[in-house]
Amino acid sequence: MGESERSVPRHVAIIMDGNGRWAARRGLPRVEGHIAGAEKVKDLLRYAKEFGVEYLTLYAFSTENWKRPKEEVDALMELLSRFIGEYLEEMKKEEVRFLVTGRMDALPERAVQDLKRAIAETAEFRGHTLIVALNYGGRAEIVDAARKIAEEARAGTLDPARIDEPLFARHLYLPEIPDPDLMIRTSGELRLSNFLLWELSYAEFYVTETFWPDFSREEFQKAIEAYTKRNRRFGGRK
Ligand code: FPP
Repeated sequence: MGESERSVPRHVAIIMDGNGRWAARRGLPRVEGHIAGAEKVKDLLRYAKEFGVEYLTLYAFSTENWKRPKEEVDALMELLSRFIGEYLEEMKKEEVRFLVTGRMDALPERAVQDLKRAIAETAEFRGHTLIVALNYGGRAEIVDAARKIAEEARAGTLDPARIDEPLFARHLYLPEIPDPDLMIRTSGELRLSNFLLWELSYAEFYVTETFWPDFSREEFQKAIEAYTKRNRRFGGRK
C-alpha cells in the first residue's frame, strides 16, 4: 500500500497549545492548565492505540519556552518527572516505546535521569511509540544535523559530494522514525512555531480552536477523518 493510500495516519504530531488560556478561563493558575494537559497526554495515547496511530509526537517544551517565568519552567520540568513516575509502569504494561526529541541533555539533571530511565526501560517495544519533544527547536535540530555532517566531513569519513536529502535526514535526532503524516495544533493558532521543520514537509495540518486540556477522543477522530478525506499528492499530480 502506497503511503498516500493509508486511511489512518501512521504518525501524528501535536502542538499542545492553550493550557494557559484553559486555566485562565477557570480562574486557575497557568500550572493547573499544564497539569490538566499532562493528563490529556495519557488519554491521547489510549486514543492513538484505539485508532491505529503508531507514532505520536507531542511538543511539550520548545527551545523558546526557557523565556517563560522560572516558576512555570520549573513546574513543567516537575510535571515531566511526575508524568514518568506515574506513567512509566503503564507504558511498559501497554508496550509503548518512549522517546525524546530535542536537546535533552540541557534539561535539568533530574528530568534527564527520569527521561533516560523511561527510554531505556521501554526500548524493546515497537507496537506504539510516544515521542515527547523537549527543549526542541526545528532550526536547532537542522543546525545539529549540519554540525554532525560537517564533523564527519572534517574527519574525512564523509565526502561532501554525497550529501543529499536521505543522508541529511539520517543525521536528524530520530532518523528511524517515519515523518508525521498529520500535524494537529490546538487552540487556533496558525503557526508552526519551530516544530519539526524538516519532518513536516509533506504533513497535512489540522487546527482546532479547542484548548489542549479539552481535546477529546471525538476531536481526535475528526482530525483523523479530515486527514483521510484529503488527497495527499506529495507535490505531484494526482
Ligand atoms: C502550551 O500551552 C503548552 C506548553 C508550552 C506545555 C505543554 C506541556 C504539557 C501538556 C504538559 C507536560 C507534558 C508531558 C508530556 C507530561 P500555553 O501555556 O502556551 O497556553 P496558552 O497559549 O494558552 O498560554
